[in-house]
Amino acid sequence: MRLLIVANWKMNPRTLRGAKQLFNSVKNGAKKIKNVEIVICPSFVYLSNFRSRASSFKLGAQNCFWEEKGAYTGEISLGMLEDLGCQYVIIGHSERRGYFKETDEMVNKKLKAVLGIKLNPILCIGETKEERNKEETETVLRRQTISALKNISSPKFSKVTITYEPVWAIGTGSPCDAEEAQKMGLLIRKIISELYNRTISKKLRILYGGSVKSKNAAGYIKEAHFQGLLVGGASLNAKEFIQIIKIVS
Ligand code: PGA
Repeated sequence: MRLLIVANWKMNPRTLRGAKQLFNSVKNGAKKIKNVEIVICPSFVYLSNFRSRASSFKLGAQNCFWEEKGAYTGEISLGMLEDLGCQYVIIGHSERRGYFKETDEMVNKKLKAVLGIKLNPILCIGETKEERNKEETETVLRRQTISALKNISSPKFSKVTITYEPVWAIGTGSPCDAEEAQKMGLLIRKIISELYNRTISKKLRILYGGSVKSKNAAGYIKEAHFQGLLVGGASLNAKEFIQIIKIVS
């Protein structure tokens, strides 16, 4: 299974010039990397600038809406993302769930819409600090996974990638240690096994995200056996991002 490394630029950089600089530096640095699938998720407004330039890696979006078209002010459809050359889309990121009140039901609607077309969804799940302190992690991961996948058949599920992103580790500089992350990775695989079957669960790519840096990246892949990483802050520094890819590849 090829490793998947995803750069989530979030609402950065501030200018198109900055975005182009970052994009080109990552592109140059990633030229010789062959055995890792790299996906860059810039802001929607920058996507059209990178469409034809992304030869060594793929483009992804950070969010989408489930309807095809219509009166949904401020929303972006999957057709628009496909047209801009996106191949991946992040669904249910904790910042969407937290700041924009995306519910499990909305995440399910988005996931179903993505699976109806050619895009590949990256579903994010993870517990908050409070939930972890109350020892509710397993319940939360189960609830988020089961509701996101409601009425999704096994052939459709094969396109899904799941990212375990403990909310308390995102952007905090306090990553989840590899041992704890591995337990959650195994739990997610078990949930998928129960929902579908073992063969399908074995084929699933599970990523880790939350304060990934070059100094801790290897642990998630080599010790905790994740099949990739979702990188936020560290992906805004081309050198550091390339370093992460080189370390795990
Ligand atoms: P971080 O963000 O690497 O800055 O913690 C990860 C994410 O939110 O995808």
